[in-house]
Amino acid sequence: MGKKFFIKTFGCQMNFNDSERIRGILRTLGYEPTDRWEEADLILLNTCTIREKPDQKVLSHIGEYKKIKEKNPNALIAVSGCLAQRAGWELVQKAPAIDIMFSSFNMHQLPELINQAQAGYKAVAILDAPPEDEDKVWDFPVERDNPFCAYVTIIKGCDKNCTYCVVPRTRGKERSRSLESILDEVRKLVDDGVREVHLLGQNVTAWGKDLEKPIPFSELLYEVSKIEGVERIRFTTGHPIDLTDDIIEAMADIPQVCNALHLPFQAGSNRILELMDRKYTKEFYLERISKLKETVPDIALSTDIIVGFPTETEEDFEHTLDVVRQVEFEQIFSFKFSPRPGTPAENMEGQVPDEVKTQRMSRLLELQKAIMSKLAKRYEGTVQEVLVEEIKEDRKAVGRTTTNRWATFTADPSLLGKIVKVKVQKATPFNLECELLEVVR
Ligand code: SAH
Ligand code: SF4
Ligand code: F3S
Repeated sequence: MGKKFFIKTFGCQMNFNDSERIRGILRTLGYEPTDRWEEADLILLNTCTIREKPDQKVLSHIGEYKKIKEKNPNALIAVSGCLAQRAGWELVQKAPAIDIMFSSFNMHQLPELINQAQAGYKAVAILDAPPEDEDKVWDFPVERDNPFCAYVTIIKGCDKNCTYCVVPRTRGKERSRSLESILDEVRKLVDDGVREVHLLGQNVTAWGKDLEKPIPFSELLYEVSKIEGVERIRFTTGHPIDLTDDIIEAMADIPQVCNALHLPFQAGSNRILELMDRKYTKEFYLERISKLKETVPDIALSTDIIVGFPTETEEDFEHTLDVVRQVEFEQIFSFKFSPRPGTPAENMEGQVPDEVKTQRMSRLLELQKAIMSKLAKRYEGTVQEVLVEEIKEDRKAVGRTTTNRWATFTADPSLLGKIVKVKVQKATPFNLECELLEVVR
């Protein structure tokens, strides 16, 4: 019987892409996936530590998964990702059932770590900085669930050091992946049938600055678009300060670049933005949004917002609501400020009580709900291009518009993976009910 692995992933898209790479590595070692942890020989938790909640979830999961060792004493429990990088041995002391630990710095070392653990050693490989040979990780295959849309990591780490954020500590300094390595992966993906590539990084718009011969991110967009078979390009996440005019113009100019952008603003008050060290003002952010809306017509915008940063007053929070009102995002992801160990904001004076955060959060969501209903209505009667990602038994097709909205309609199974034109009949904030018009390509 072959060995089986079970992976549970927390956190952002970067972490999901890392898990896809880890799955690929495990396949090369002869492991097969299972979706039941009870029958796994290797259980891996790819963790996140962006806020306090995910930290707690990991510990409670390990508490459950360690029961596996009663039935299968040779089963291994591995913890990877950002919590592993931040907490290291401290986490192993809290949860001694952990056999293997590594982070996004050294996923390529997993084969040796498994050997060590099988020999009975605790294989904890948490490094202070990424090792010299970290690029070896690109040589391993990725195993994806979605045959048509693929993530491609283009830059690791972050140099921004926002005062609330743990990412620079868990993912290290910015390291751009080489142009050739990225294009190679995209070519392979297209050969495999992928039609949409989603370029990933904590700060994709900073890509290329640290290369031996610096290349602007907009150039990467052009290069990827030239690969035959790439029908759609998305990228996440951009930092407003690096969203230069050439990128906005490339978005408008390259037909394959989707009509959507996730651009976190975090807070509307200039005083809070300064305390966060975000390096821009409310006015700067709104100017970038105007430029985007002018240059890329009908662009769908989404954002991240932190509520209740230390010292946030009612007046500060009003500025956040004001940005939301002015921009009219299609989607917002809002989070209560969560103090992270070792970050400057952890012990800042003026921590905001939880009741206040909860109350502000619900006001924000109330406002957003109204905006989303209004924006959804604008879709009704329009014609949209959709990439068909799934067709269920009753010919119910599901796909996304270039503005990243889910659309459903009736279609023949042969249209799977095709880009089609649909007419929107009924729009709600989370779904567009459509009628199929024609196949585009
Ligand atoms: N690199 C991306 C986002 C990374 S983390 C960027 O800078 O835009 C994803 C989101 O988590 C952030 O945008 C922020 O809104 C939220 N976040 C990060 N640290 C947080 C903290 N300490 N408390 C609450 N939310 C946080
Ligand atoms: Fe964190 Fe700021 Fe970097 Fe985003 S830009 S990952 S919020 S430090
Ligand atoms: Fe979490 Fe690490 Fe992503 S902390 S949000 S998994 S970069």
